[in-house]
Amino acid sequence: MSPGPDDPDNMAVMTYDVAAVRKEFPALVEGPSAGLARFDGPGGSLTPASVADAVATAMRSGLCQRGSLTAPDRLADEITLGARAAMARFTGLGDPRGIVFGRSMTAITMDVARILAREWGPGDEIVLTRLDHDGDVRPWVIAAERAGATVRWLGFDTTTCELDDIAPLLSERTRLVAVTAASNLLGTRPDLPAISAAAHAVDALMYVDAVHLAPHAPLDFHGFGADFLVCSPYKFFGPHLGVLASTPERLESMHPDKLLPSTNVVPERFELGTLPYELLAGVRAAVEVAESLGMSAVESHERALMARLLEGLGALERVTVHGRPARRTPTALLTFDGIDAHEVSASLAERGVVAPADNFYALEASRHLGLGDEGGMRVGLSAYTDETDVDRLLVALGDALSR
Ligand SMILES: Cc1ncc(COP(=O)(O)O)c(C=O)c1O
Repeated sequence: MSPGPDDPDNMAVMTYDVAAVRKEFPALVEGPSAGLARFDGPGGSLTPASVADAVATAMRSGLCQRGSLTAPDRLADEITLGARAAMARFTGLGDPRGIVFGRSMTAITMDVARILAREWGPGDEIVLTRLDHDGDVRPWVIAAERAGATVRWLGFDTTTCELDDIAPLLSERTRLVAVTAASNLLGTRPDLPAISAAAHAVDALMYVDAVHLAPHAPLDFHGFGADFLVCSPYKFFGPHLGVLASTPERLESMHPDKLLPSTNVVPERFELGTLPYELLAGVRAAVEVAESLGMSAVESHERALMARLLEGLGALERVTVHGRPARRTPTALLTFDGIDAHEVSASLAERGVVAPADNFYALEASRHLGLGDEGGMRVGLSAYTDETDVDRLLVALGDALSR
């Protein structure tokens, strides 16, 4: 059925002007990236001019520390609070007091795992998935090992790349379920509300890795049923750092190691040392870009392009597209009959098409698929990808495979 005029998806497609969006991203036309067709967005998105300008402006403002004495002190304070408010909107958490900034999602997850695991012991269990990036796997494995707790693994179907049923793994012993909002390797979007309902039914905490979903669809902390949600602004137009969203009440109940003179208030309790104010200025600007694009509009734009890509790939011989999940991001993992994915990537790079090959730290997923640690070639669409990019990729791939 075609969407009606009031269908939000249809309106989104009609109002999404990708040519105008592309003008916001200087790297598409200047510097070493000029003219490249970029499909490496899942590794890190391009940066809009407004974000780069916000970072530069903050750095030129004489910022030193947050405070109220001088104008630069007040500006550092304003930038920090502005970035928290922006991330509270972006994650759907709503309350800026639940937003913690850290160096990366990985660093934050290592910290949270260490803190939560202080309460675990032998007999306790946590559930991890084979779909997840290692940033949402290894911190929990390490913490569970130290605490003597048991890891239960949730696998996925290697044909559809949908997660298996979590129910058989849960019990009153389950302390935590860590699951991705979208696979950075395969694009699969697990049914988070169903998983969190099952986790909460046994009083387990739900830790959601939204790093890969964040650039592709609206986040919904409460709708996902998250107790914790993590993401990384450099994946959605912003600077390189990580963000944790949780309720202030939950954060109050947790006690990270801290210095004696540093504040014990939430969320600052979790942010060791001085925050990178210039990057926080960039975070706020990145959220404003996401808001002006409309993440639902981005999602619709990318869905239409993904259909074009998958159709084109289907017409090529020797290409395997791994998985056909019901709900997905515009990210696909490809392998090729008789030719190594790294070789294909190199051949595309010669033609100005950027689609790297790796396991992309989704190590468990790559191994579960039988691809070992090599993985495959990942093709990721972004808010700034257009039809010309997709067609360039398909032509370059056709050429590379017919050599
Ligand atoms: C799904 C997913 N989770 C976690 C991470 C790790 O994020 P960070 O680089 O902020 O530690 C990545 C990075 O690629 C990712 O794609």
